[in-house]
Amino acid sequence: MIVCVCNNISDREIRQAVDLGLSTMAELSRDLGVGTCCGKCGSCARQVLHAHLDTRIEVKEISFRTAQTA
Ligand code: FES
Repeated sequence: MIVCVCNNISDREIRQAVDLGLSTMAELSRDLGVGTCCGKCGSCARQVLHAHLDTRIEVKEISFRTAQTA
């Protein structure tokens, strides 16, 4: 669905931006233009942003064990 009509930004594009590392409304505004015209999309964009941030799993460390052969 289109979230920001003024800039033709969809919920999918917002989620993709979050996947690429954006995490604030200021970043969405800067990079996608969300909320920079009439501003009516702000609350919906914020909902999409935070809902997707909540589903992300952040991997901070990965360790591997190597198989030991006898
Ligand atoms: S609908 Fe997003 S700035 Fe107007």
